[in-house]
Amino acid sequence: MVSVEPHRDLHLEQLQQLVNCHLAGVVPGWQLPTSVIAGSLRPRPGDPDFDLWVAERHTLCAVEEDRLLGAAHVLRYTSEAAVGAGYRGTAELAWLLFWPEAEAAARALIEAARELVSGWGPTRVYACDTSLPVPVVSGVPESWPHVSAALVRAGFASLAIHEQVLYGGRLPEVGQHAPPVAGLEVRAVADEPGQRFLAELDGLEIGFLEWSPDLSCGGSLPALAGWAELCALRIREEWRGRGIGGWLVRRTVPFLRMVGVSRVVVALTAWQEEAGAGRFCKRLGWEPVVRLEQGWSAGA
Ligand SMILES: CC(C)(COP(=O)(O)OP(=O)(O)OC[C@H]1O[C@@H](n2cnc3c(N)ncnc32)[C@H](O)[C@@H]1OP(=O)(O)O)[C@@H](O)C(=O)NCCC(=O)NCCS
Repeated sequence: MVSVEPHRDLHLEQLQQLVNCHLAGVVPGWQLPTSVIAGSLRPRPGDPDFDLWVAERHTLCAVEEDRLLGAAHVLRYTSEAAVGAGYRGTAELAWLLFWPEAEAAARALIEAARELVSGWGPTRVYACDTSLPVPVVSGVPESWPHVSAALVRAGFASLAIHEQVLYGGRLPEVGQHAPPVAGLEVRAVADEPGQRFLAELDGLEIGFLEWSPDLSCGGSLPALAGWAELCALRIREEWRGRGIGGWLVRRTVPFLRMVGVSRVVVALTAWQEEAGAGRFCKRLGWEPVVRLEQGWSAGA
């Protein structure tokens, strides 16, 4: 018989197993330490980076005879102006994880979460937008079909336009230094060293690129050491298709190597992928790693 109870420290080891098995289905090799998982469950009053929007957080565990079958993390967003308009006064099933054979546990968790949330009177209930405390990942990966099926059964729907795909791979070879357009230069933005680079022609910005060069967050996520995220890359429309994007990425590779980066991940919207960014990534040697359905929500 499955029972749902608030998370306690004694669940932590099993929760870590549940989290890391799911995470391995997103990016192989990524894992979270127990300290990071535990820290993400606790409220941190006064920490504006963490709990600025969140008024309450609860973790529910579905347990049967001491075995953790699933868990869910539930958030209540405040109605204050600091909260983004779409999230003001709403709630979120920030993540829902369960072993694929434990459907009853998922049902029990969603039911308990709904009961908890109904007391708050939210205007809407989102799901899996916040996701696990790991960079880049948001939404429900295709490798978690049991989770999307459970959400659908419970009346949640995702928005097709919010599909995302993660591409990943090794750093590309540096290649030729000669720019594809005569006079093109790369400028590192001084106050964000190793992070933001501009492609300039006669002083005019025609493209920019941003790296998040340390996904291990200063070592607190050791399994992500050596990974960087390409957070943004944009070439002005009239300059696209001339090799500038690829050249800009390659020109920043020495900066990344210097800080120990060897692997890269980039999140594309399905729309960007279709428009050519997918082919662009493949030309750099990066392949699709996983697709994620985002924009899950249900009426309150
Ligand atoms: C994706 C993007 C950065 C590529 O820059 P670029 O300078 O055009 O790329 P390059 O000339 O070095 O590489 C050419 C490849 O980019 C892609 N590309 C070319 N023109 C493109 C366009 N107008 N839109 C999208 N992708 C395009 C194609 O895959 C092309 O390869 P192909 O010749 O085999 O078709 C640029 O098109 C862009 O700014 N797109 C909008 C923002 C975006 O999607 N960013 C994704 C981040 S990876």
